[in-house]
Amino acid sequence: PKTLIEPFRIKSIEPIRMTTREQREQLLAAAHLNVFKLRAEDVLLDWLTDSGTGAMSSKQWGAIMEGDESYAGARSFYRLEKVIQDITGMQHFVPTHQGRAAEKVLFTAVCKKGDLVPNNCHFDTTRANLEYLGIEAVDLVIPEGLQPALIYPFKGNIDLARAEAVLQKDGARIPFGMLTVTNNTGGGQPVSMENIRAYSKLLKKYGKPFIMDVCRFSENAMFIKMREPGYENTPIREIVQEMFSYCDGATMSAKKDAMVNIGGFIVLRSDEWMDGVRNGLIMMEGFPTYGGLAGRDLEAMAVGLEEGMDEDYLRYRLRTAEYLGERLDAAGVGFVKPTGGHAVYIDAKTVLPDMPVAHYPAWALCNALYLEGGIRGVEIGSVMFGKRLQDGTETFHNMELVRLAFPRRMYTQSHFDYAAEVIAEVKEKAASIRGVKIVKQPEFLRHFTCECAWA
Ligand code: F0G
Repeated sequence: PKTLIEPFRIKSIEPIRMTTREQREQLLAAAHLNVFKLRAEDVLLDWLTDSGTGAMSSKQWGAIMEGDESYAGARSFYRLEKVIQDITGMQHFVPTHQGRAAEKVLFTAVCKKGDLVPNNCHFDTTRANLEYLGIEAVDLVIPEGLQPALIYPFKGNIDLARAEAVLQKDGARIPFGMLTVTNNTGGGQPVSMENIRAYSKLLKKYGKPFIMDVCRFSENAMFIKMREPGYENTPIREIVQEMFSYCDGATMSAKKDAMVNIGGFIVLRSDEWMDGVRNGLIMMEGFPTYGGLAGRDLEAMAVGLEEGMDEDYLRYRLRTAEYLGERLDAAGVGFVKPTGGHAVYIDAKTVLPDMPVAHYPAWALCNALYLEGGIRGVEIGSVMFGKRLQDGTETFHNMELVRLAFPRRMYTQSHFDYAAEVIAEVKEKAASIRGVKIVKQPEFLRHFTCECAWA
């Protein structure tokens, strides 16, 4: 049989609620045409993010009862430490409450004002944490990674020539090099083992440590298995171990591939930075054996890290995004190709080619998906990345995307079939879709809280 099924069955369910179009029109109006302001229970398919939103397994729920809630030296810490040491091959580990806390603690301990950090693409919080400390965050993804319609197997790769140029020119300012797997900001695109290996070698040549942002390391490993010659028959665990073998440390948001609702960590090969990390952790997160989490969270993470590397699961996971992509192709809807691991990024300009960017086509498409079918995605376009300048004029983003990110193990194929139908219907009705204007906005990160009206 060719159908790739969800490799699990459902033990506990959570109802989702249908609404009528009329109700959704009222709800969206009350939310000032900003889906962030909707109540989650008024959303049918909530694809705002894959972060911390997934379903835990019965094994994880079982482990939760084993949580040791001791303040210092809890058994749950040592259990998780062993799992992380085995996967990463690195000795030094501290938990944090989520990924951005791992970034903040590590950067505060290691970087100083005026530094520069190269990466394929920094995620928003990584960039914000660096810039807040007066550090320049430089994105060096390969040119292929910036062309939505171009099919290329590893669009998350870092451009090694540009990385070397930066190392030569600004080496003195660089505390370490980073690499984000998969490259979320660039469409959830994977990085090849060859690129990880070469970047590691390059950083070594210039005497710089290598830190990976590994939120989606298992999905990245599965892409390597499926796309990189020589890895077809390598078990995922071994691919993961090889990926980690090239770096000196990592920050992790466990809310992604560790299959938990909250959590993160820092892991380092050498103990050189550990005093600084532990001191910062105690101040910002908690004692080093719990780092802002409960013992039960550590247990769930220990199980989740293993489950996230399960090959049947990963095959189904990546196939889900690919399947939705095929349905969008059939409907003539453009998206970032090939589909990434955790999300599909619709190119709103292919649905609303005539809408002026000043009316925010990706935001308009987001609203239309909610009105048509109760689906919530996130705009990655000119509301998120554009700015209103002092003179009242606007800057716009170079792409108008809507990200539909998929919580892990939560939605079944019929949900995806339904979504494909909704998106196709929205495309049919494109002429009637209205753009918006922003009537109230804060100075920073305006997409979260801005209020809009129909343009
Ligand atoms: N790094 C990457 C690549 C991420 O995608 C995220 C979060 C973080 C770091 C920060 O981790 O949320 O646990 O503090 N991404 C989520 C998203 C929020 O929707 O893509 P966090």
